[in-house]
Amino acid sequence: MCGIVGYTGRDLALPILLGALERLEYRGYDSAGVALIENGKLIVEKKAGKIRELVRALWGKNYKAKTGIGHTRWATHGKPTDENAHPHTDEKGEFAVVHNGIIENYIELREELKKEGVKFKSDTDTEVIAHLIAKNYKGDLLQAVIEAVKKLKGAFAFAVITVHEPNRVIGVKNGSPLIVGLGQGENFLASDIPAILPYTKKVIVLDDGEIADLTPDSVNIYNFNGEPVTKDVMITPWDLVAAEKSGFKHFMLKEIYEQPKAVLDTYKGFISNEETIPFWLKDYRRILIIACGTSYHAGLVGKYWIERFAGVPVEVIYASEFRYSDTPVSDKDLVIGISQSGETIDTKFALQSAKERGAFTVGIVNVVGSAIDREVDFSIHTHAGPEIGVAATKTFTAQLTSLYCLAARESNEREELLKKVEKIPALIEKTLAKAEDVEKVSEKYLKKKDFLYLGRYINFPIALEGALKLKEISYIHAEGYPAGEMKHGPIALIDENMPVTVIAPKDRVYEKMLSNIEEVLARKGIVISVGFEGDKVLKEKSADFMEIPETEEVLTPFLTVVPLQLLAYFIASKLGLDVDQPRNLAKTVTVE
Ligand code: AGP
Repeated sequence: MCGIVGYTGRDLALPILLGALERLEYRGYDSAGVALIENGKLIVEKKAGKIRELVRALWGKNYKAKTGIGHTRWATHGKPTDENAHPHTDEKGEFAVVHNGIIENYIELREELKKEGVKFKSDTDTEVIAHLIAKNYKGDLLQAVIEAVKKLKGAFAFAVITVHEPNRVIGVKNGSPLIVGLGQGENFLASDIPAILPYTKKVIVLDDGEIADLTPDSVNIYNFNGEPVTKDVMITPWDLVAAEKSGFKHFMLKEIYEQPKAVLDTYKGFISNEETIPFWLKDYRRILIIACGTSYHAGLVGKYWIERFAGVPVEVIYASEFRYSDTPVSDKDLVIGISQSGETIDTKFALQSAKERGAFTVGIVNVVGSAIDREVDFSIHTHAGPEIGVAATKTFTAQLTSLYCLAARESNEREELLKKVEKIPALIEKTLAKAEDVEKVSEKYLKKKDFLYLGRYINFPIALEGALKLKEISYIHAEGYPAGEMKHGPIALIDENMPVTVIAPKDRVYEKMLSNIEEVLARKGIVISVGFEGDKVLKEKSADFMEIPETEEVLTPFLTVVPLQLLAYFIASKLGLDVDQPRNLAKTVTVE
């Protein structure tokens, strides 16, 4: 939620900031803005709407500044207006701040500052930071920031510049992500790595309670007491191509097509690091999986594999529910948190709470150095590369890969089970080769207002995932259900207008699925099915049939999800919607 960026160097800051903001836009797109220091003056340009609105407002303005900060917003406090857009400044317009996160005590601070005569221009929590820094400034921006931070409560990251020190950018991290990019004669601050990829691969990942002090030729890190901190420099394996559309119309489509590689890379990563895994699932009385959204659905699939291969009972819990639950947890439990971003605050807090209750915590994360990656006792990395589309696709199949491998490792048939993963990329390729068929199916359903998705056993979570994909990018209401539950309520919804997407590969519940399909047909529902190629019975019963190559039961979720991702994509794209940046959503959710 919200992307922040900072630059100080020898090049023009504005194009660098705008490019970086575009690569961070997936974090929020309610408004955008930049602040620059030019000829001793602070220039602030900001606009409600997407970054293209800001770019329009900047046309013809030839700023020469070499230091600046930028922001793309996902609104929390205050509507997405020009006034509430970041950067925010002090009264004299000498300090500018961009911020990600929430200042929880901002009302109290605002009242205190108002009593001192400060006049506020926005409804945001952020503005207090600019006023506090200005108030504490006595000739050294770092000291002013340290004093201001003492007053702030909440989870936040912010960057600040001042006209008094035109070649300096200071960044603060406490709960929200912030990295430093190290260049030659230039340095960068950003919420996430893709922002700085065109310029450098050298990154310092800040920890909570740290301040980065940047000039073009130096980077110094301090703790909140102002004491210097030594940090490791990491070389990110991500490259710019991975963070660009490369000829695809949308990032989401590109990322759907990257799934064979995401699975293979994640598998290879697992195999080469397997020996370092310091635990056995079997040594625990229970496995708890904690996650949100799509990652939660991956966890639900993981439950079937872990229970089948390792024989340990698994509970999958929404992170936002776990944190405040009374679920008994002890050192007899192993808790797995799944998160592509590694920054989802609900998952991070839930893992912290599990740790406090005595559990051993494991993360399955895509972003190395992210908050969850650092929080847990041990991390398993998915190797999907950066995912930019708000709708998670390749990170989901990468998470499935990690969970499958983790479970297979516990089985007496470890080798055989792990070997099976090697054939998944080719099977996904074959599924993707039928994308045109799915596109044709999508055209028939553009006007539908509701969808039902049904699956059983290991494909029940895929029904949930298919429904989530559709609703988040097409804004069509969709419900995922275990097919056997249909008769306990949702069947009342079925009539001749209701498309029912059924997932029915030939597995242990295939016959049951066929019966459920009959129940839908008897109520005149429209059946869209996902099944094995050559399945004439299923095809005959379906208004539309989306085929996947035949494979064994345990591997089906890797394939059944693909046509559902494509179906959601084509529907949203043909409706002319913003597939990569759907309304109200943000890629990384750093508020509770
Ligand atoms: C997925 O399409 C969604 N955008 C969302 O549900 C997402 O999976 C969820 O916010 C969890 O994110 P994480 O994996 O980064 O923790």
